[in-house]
Amino acid sequence: MTTTTLLKQHNPPGPPPIGTNLLAQLRFGLHVTGDPLNVMLGWFKQYGDVVHLQFGKEAHVYFLAHPDHFHTVLVEKANQFHKAGSYKDTKRGLARILGNGLVTSDGDYWRRQRKLIQPAFHARRIEAYAEEMVRLTQLMLQGWQDGKTIEINDVMMRLTLAIVAKTILDTDIRSDAEKIAEAVTIFQHLAFGVDIFPLWLPTPAHVKQRKAEKAMDDVVAALITQRRKSAEDRGDLLSMLLNSLDESGQGMTDQQIRDEIVTLFLAGHETTANALSWTWYLLAQHPEVEQKLHEELHGILHGRVPTLADLKQLPYTELVLEESMRLYPPVWNMSRQALTDVEVGGYIIPKGSEVNLNTYAMHHDPRWWDEPEHFNPHRQSSAPKMAYLPFSTGPRVCIGNSFALMEARLILATVASRYRLKMIGRQPPVQMEPLIALRPKGRVSLIAEAR
Ligand code: HEM
Repeated sequence: MTTTTLLKQHNPPGPPPIGTNLLAQLRFGLHVTGDPLNVMLGWFKQYGDVVHLQFGKEAHVYFLAHPDHFHTVLVEKANQFHKAGSYKDTKRGLARILGNGLVTSDGDYWRRQRKLIQPAFHARRIEAYAEEMVRLTQLMLQGWQDGKTIEINDVMMRLTLAIVAKTILDTDIRSDAEKIAEAVTIFQHLAFGVDIFPLWLPTPAHVKQRKAEKAMDDVVAALITQRRKSAEDRGDLLSMLLNSLDESGQGMTDQQIRDEIVTLFLAGHETTANALSWTWYLLAQHPEVEQKLHEELHGILHGRVPTLADLKQLPYTELVLEESMRLYPPVWNMSRQALTDVEVGGYIIPKGSEVNLNTYAMHHDPRWWDEPEHFNPHRQSSAPKMAYLPFSTGPRVCIGNSFALMEARLILATVASRYRLKMIGRQPPVQMEPLIALRPKGRVSLIAEAR
């Protein structure tokens, strides 16, 4: 017998198949979309590292949470997977809003685009944005004073939006950036809910979505046209995209640039804003960590604003962020589709199946993390390298990884040097809202205490 025939021929364990009955499918859809993360965590607990679900007659979905399986899908056999239908569906998936940008494209097209865009994220290029990041954070702080209530998720979302607007599009026009952000937010709520109506039906939600998307497309088209006309290099990512040429001397079309810009907007502001919101929430609950963070900042900065050069001397600030992204990974789940029959974890995953990599489950697994629910930036971890992947790994690793880490540390250092954010009395724990990014559910209000 060969190894292949020894491989487990049967499906991995999992919940009972959801047949073709529409009502059963709807009931299941509502059950999962109501609380997708906890439903999946429950499956891993009950069925183990590889969970299988059959949906309808032929759709097979696999859920993975083991570091070795992340390595198989993202690195070792990365070329046997493409992004899943939930990314590529131009009607209800991410591609509806992102088109064929870096997050949703695959194969040779994705490779060409990644090569064209990569230079925009080289260290020297992004380092030039550090001053802008600090300046915009200081601008935000002008509206703060001792005792002010801060709706932290709104405030962080607005700040990171202003930062991507400046660094990607060199625009300070808030309404432009907000139109893009609004379309993205409306889309997420629709994509993650259960919408039983056909898209052509003008339900209030569909009309609202279409209107927001049109407003966004108009803003982006106007920016591209303006910039092509002026042919000016403004040092932002849009200039780089407009000037980039591939090996055959070919540049990008307006449609390609539109897709990449909206992609960078979505990928670049929500994720960082959520990482920061969760960090402030954790710091407010852990005064001993907050105090240590402040000691480090005070020791190096003595009250002045941070610069890029300071970051090397702020290791604890980085540990705080890293630990926060372990507990609340902004991208909590990644989906792929198998291009061929492919073996993962001893099972054959048939061609066409969907695979979900659950970063949240892996970051909370007691096999790799002692007291996994505990916020401990100092943890001495013996976890395997693959057990911590907030930015993913392999060829599809986050292109904005260094940009995001620089931005988040600069914001954290600028704000925490001047304010301590505290909980308002006793509040129930903040729940998670797992959309594309892992958001805090509802508003999170904290009190700013001046230092
Ligand atoms: C804390 C902040 C961030 C986190 C945790 C994060 C995480 C991730 C993850 C996990 C992926 C892989 C998704 C998948 O393969 O399904 C990804 C991809 C990506 N990210 Fe980020 N990201 C962050 C910030 C940013 C920023 C600031 C930008 C750009 C300004 C960015 C741009 C992208 C792009 C374009 C991709 C697709 C790359 C490709 O497939 O070639 N991200 N990110």
